[in-house]
Order: sequence, then structure tokens, then C-alpha cells
Amino acid sequence: MEIIQICGGNRLVGEIEISGAKNAAVAILPATLLIEGVCRVENVPNIADVTTTLKILNLLGSKIKYINKNTIEIDNRNLHNNIVPYDLARSMRASYYFLGALLSRFGNARVSMPGGCNFGVRPVDQHLKAFAALGASVSPMENGMIEVVADRLTGNSIYLDIVSVGATVNAILSSVKARGVTIIENAAKEPHIVDLANFLNSAGADIRGAGTDVIKVYGVDILHGTSYAIIPDQIEAGTYMAATAATGGDVLIKNVIPKHLESITAKLQEMGVLVEDFDDSIHVSRQNPLNQCNVKTMPHPGFPTDMQPQFSVLLSIAEGTSILTEGVYDNRFRYIEELRRMGVQAQVDGKVAVFQGVDYLTAAPVKATDLRGGIAMIIAALVARGVTEIEEIQHIERGYENIVEKLSALGAQIKRVTVPDSVVSHAL
Ligand code: UD1
Repeated sequence: MEIIQICGGNRLVGEIEISGAKNAAVAILPATLLIEGVCRVENVPNIADVTTTLKILNLLGSKIKYINKNTIEIDNRNLHNNIVPYDLARSMRASYYFLGALLSRFGNARVSMPGGCNFGVRPVDQHLKAFAALGASVSPMENGMIEVVADRLTGNSIYLDIVSVGATVNAILSSVKARGVTIIENAAKEPHIVDLANFLNSAGADIRGAGTDVIKVYGVDILHGTSYAIIPDQIEAGTYMAATAATGGDVLIKNVIPKHLESITAKLQEMGVLVEDFDDSIHVSRQNPLNQCNVKTMPHPGFPTDMQPQFSVLLSIAEGTSILTEGVYDNRFRYIEELRRMGVQAQVDGKVAVFQGVDYLTAAPVKATDLRGGIAMIIAALVARGVTEIEEIQHIERGYENIVEKLSALGAQIKRVTVPDSVVSHAL
């Protein structure tokens, strides 16, 4: 078993480069299936969710060539399969994008119901509603697969009952080559929705309004090969901003789009952290104690739910009482049980957590309960007294490129260690 060991207490200081956005990559790579040509995709993060996505593409018949560590060429001219099995779909929520992409390419797709982080009930009804609106028939099959079939997809109005990133992406994927115009109302506005639309438009699609809550997709017959660079990861950048603030550090975070970080910047400033924007970098530093703060997560441009666990750590070491309200998921506080082991004082009631700031955290053996819950353990360990050992780090590796190397370069005492199952070593 691999674990991460961190000896807390070091300030993060220096410069760091942010990788390409996970949530954009896991949409754009399946979107290449719509293109009967060669796509060159740059700034692809080297993370487990991308590896899984590429394995699925490979199974479908994509020819994939790595040009360098973060640049991939994908040739989808000779696909021979439209089925995504459970063993690949299970580890990643975004495997449902293969439904929309394969439906568009073949008029027929079979994809196992997705896995990913467990935040309570995560239905896909809005995705299926979008496919049905375009004329597809949707059938749950035995063994957890969903089949979608359409003779000819036809543009239509799709009103999403809730703002869903995944359903918006699937509505776009399935309508790009549909006949006529599709109007997606109450669409999600996250930066990776805009990135997906920009990628598809660069291949000849006609998608207008991405980034607003009404997206119009004018169907086109054919898409052509393209070359495209994925945007920087908003959440990875936000995570390093939070980690810098937590450790009282001073870091220049490079390769970011500061506009995407506005809600995070605003909350850090409210807590007394210095944040300065430049064209494509952001400088974060903290010298004074953290002020208490109330945070509520919301769809973009609100404060991102994927930054909620990182802020739990900040609020738990801020002065006074802070309230954190989860506005997207039913149950995204499971990781707080682990943080309590490190001295965090928090009361959770449904979607609300109330933090009583403490003077310091202490090291403890903990586990990553999910991707962002796992990164919260890392941030807590960076400030805790003593050596923290974090298990189940496969969750963290789904979404953070070179996390150990990047934090080491900023001065953290962190390393990945192989230990026998269930035996946790204490040597750093
Ligand atoms: C995406 C992100 C994830 C982020 C989330 C919210 C990717 C790959 N993942 O997940 O990191 O936490 O957005 O910003 O981009 N819902 C329904 N029915 C549906 C679809 C969603 O009820 O058909 C609900 C969900 O249970 C959730 C809410 O809508 O409560 C928002 O979910 P959604 O925006 O769809 O999240 P994902 O696309 O799964």
C-alpha cells in the first residue's frame, strides 16, 4: 500500500506551475470521439482520471500518441466499439461523457453507470432527459449499463431542472451534430463548459453562449481535426492558494486564469490573506492570523464545492466561529470525521458545518475519503504538529498531478512511501 507522509510545520514558499484542468480534460478527451480526424490536445494533466479516460478511448479504437508528457494526439478515424464496461467506468464520475459522445458518433452507446466520489445520491436523470429531448431512447440494462439509441438526433429545447455540469456537457456533446438547433436552458457556467465549447468550435462546431445559462448549439454535419490547449485547473490553483494561506506561506502560482479564481480570492481576502492577481499568475501570502469567515458553495460563478474541504481546514484554524454551507451536494462532509482526528472542532448538521477555530492541529493517521477530502488531509497535515500518514491516496492521485513533487518544491516535508498493507510506518 502507498501512503503519503507529511511532517507538518513548514511554510510553503516559492513558485509553482498549475497543470491543465482535470474536469476540462475528462470532457474534451471523450469529445474527440465526435471528430473523424486527428486531434492534438495540449496541457493534458498527468493524473489517474486522464489515464482511465485514455484507456476507455483505447478500448473504443482510438489511436493515442503521447507527443510529450502533457501533449497527446488522438486519431479517432477507425473506432470499432461503443461499449464502456464497468471495470473502467467505475473509478470515475466523468465516464458518463462517453454516453453523449458515443451517441453522437454512432447513434448508439452502452456505458456502465459511473463511479467517482461518494457525496450521497448523484443521479443522472438530467443527462438522460437531454438525450431523450434530442430523440434518443434511453434504457437501463441489466448489470448497471445504460443504453442510448437514436436513428437521427434532432435539435430541441432542453431545460435542465437543476444546474448540472455533467448534464450540460452531455447535452452539448449529443447536440453538436444533431439536425437543427438545440437550446440548453439553465445550463452550468463552469470554466470547463466554456473550454469544451471552445474545443468543439475549433473543430468546426457552432456552439454559442457557453459560460451563460443559455447555450445554443447549431448542429453541423462534420467536425475536423484540431489542435487545442486545455485551460489551467481552477481547483488545483485554488488548492495551492488555500495550502499557502494555511501554512502562512508566500507563493507565486503560475499558469492560472485569475478570473476563474475570483470567488476563492474574495474569501481568502476576507480571511486576511494577501492575494494579488497578475495576467496569468496569482501571488498569495499570509502573515496575520486567519479571520473567521462564512462560506457557501454554489454553481459557478459561486464558490466551488470542489474547494469546500480545503476551506474546512482554513476555517478550523481561523479565529472564532465559521460556518460552511454546502449548496451543491447532499452529503459532502464525510471527510470531516478524519479531520477531527487531527484536532479539528466541527459540528456537522446536514449541509452545514460549524467550525470552532483551534490554535493548532496535531498529526494522526488518516485516510483520503475522496479526491478533495483527501487533499484537505494534506493541507491539514502541512500545518499539523508531527508526522501525519495519509492512506487511500489513490483518490488524491485521480486529480492532482505530481502533488508530492510540487509541494516538496515549495518546502513541504512530504513523501510517498510504500508500506505493507495495514502497517503504517512512522519514519519520515
Ligand atoms: C462536476 C464536477 C465535480 C463538481 C461538480 C459540481 C466533473 C467531471 N466533475 O460533477 O468535480 O463537484 O460538477 O461543481 O466536471 N444532479 C442531479 N441529476 C443529474 C445530474 C446532477 O440531481 O442528472 C445533481 C447532483 O446530484 C448534484 C448537483 O446536481 O447534487 C450538481 O451535480 P453536477 O453539476 O451534475 O456534478 P457533476 O457533473 O457530477
